[in-house]
Amino acid sequence: MKTFLKNSQSKSDFDLRAQFQGLRRDVAYLDNAATTQMCQSAIDAMNAYITGGRSNVGRGLYPIAEETMKKYDAARSTVANFVGVDAGRCVFTKSVTEGLNAIAFGLRERLQAGDEILVSAFEHHANLLPWRRIAKERGAIVKTMPMLADFTLNLDRAKAMMNERTKIVAVTMVSNVLGTVLPIADLADAAHRVGALIVVDAAQAAAHLPIDVVDLGVDALVFGSHKCYGPAGIAAMILSLDLIDSMEPMIVGGGMVDHVTTDGATWRQGIEKFEGGSPNVEAAIGFAAALSLIAPPPYEGGGRGEVLRQRLVSDLQSISGVTVFDPPGAIGIVSFTIDGMHPHDVADMLGARGVCVRAGNHCAAPLVEKLSTTGTLRASLAIYTDERDIEALVSNLKEIVKKAKA
Ligand code: ALA
Repeated sequence: MKTFLKNSQSKSDFDLRAQFQGLRRDVAYLDNAATTQMCQSAIDAMNAYITGGRSNVGRGLYPIAEETMKKYDAARSTVANFVGVDAGRCVFTKSVTEGLNAIAFGLRERLQAGDEILVSAFEHHANLLPWRRIAKERGAIVKTMPMLADFTLNLDRAKAMMNERTKIVAVTMVSNVLGTVLPIADLADAAHRVGALIVVDAAQAAAHLPIDVVDLGVDALVFGSHKCYGPAGIAAMILSLDLIDSMEPMIVGGGMVDHVTTDGATWRQGIEKFEGGSPNVEAAIGFAAALSLIAPPPYEGGGRGEVLRQRLVSDLQSISGVTVFDPPGAIGIVSFTIDGMHPHDVADMLGARGVCVRAGNHCAAPLVEKLSTTGTLRASLAIYTDERDIEALVSNLKEIVKKAKA
């Protein structure tokens, strides 16, 4: 399993944490699966662009506009290369949710009554609701590839569910609740054998695992900036060349149109077809700078992140009444419950003590309802997480549980 910084990483913790002004020593920030802190290089790159004079892209003929276009193109190349493709396959969207909606929208006319879309038991609502909506519209059926008792995907069952009716397999690469890593290459191979497309939500994977879209063999993959140490408001939608040619754009308007007549319009070719409206140039520049900090992928098997996660799991397991969900091979995320205590109450008490975790259903209600009726507590790690963060969570949790039982 490849995860987090190499043991041999030359930067000390201090140097690495210094890259993140938003990290406070009085706070243990363990909600990185929701949003990471932003790295200094992203802030600096955006600041340089904005203060150097900004413009829109694709519209101006003056030098600043040309410079902006170059910066936007360079950012796109960096983001595309991060997942092993050329810029011509990388569309910027405002979020992973928007990207997944755009793909579902773009594929809806391929569906006929009785066709099947497979999702996994691990999906975030962002990779579930767009598929349910187009299935309802087209008379198609959404089926769920199930989870095994160890909280990993039942791959045999998933493969057995694929047949000539399967048109789309929509799956997360890493569960935002459990940290489970799904076998994307195997699923892609199985999907293609039955002529289905595979769409991957890599929101939780991109900051933790090296991703090569070509090696994985997936048709579409989406990941965002704000979970990768960059600004919010931008994500990358990576599409196969075939999808770029054939998919209908969800957003129509300026910037994506080729020719408008009194009663019709034609779209631009290539990725421009999917970028209607003025793009978030500064965020694209920040996204690229953040990815440059973590590329080439710094995460290796047996690395520091894996050690920290294992330590967190065993420390939590040592607290009486705590149940930890620990799928084999999981990365970056630990969900747990405490007997007799509501996760929201515990998260609230931890927050008051400077420990930031998330509680609830994590926008993945069908999965979390299988784990607990009240939701889970979730601690999620990042490249800057260290032993002190883990200690802060565990020691405060021990005190909270002790008080509740007193
Ligand atoms: N999808 C993000 C999370 O899991 C917001 O917290």
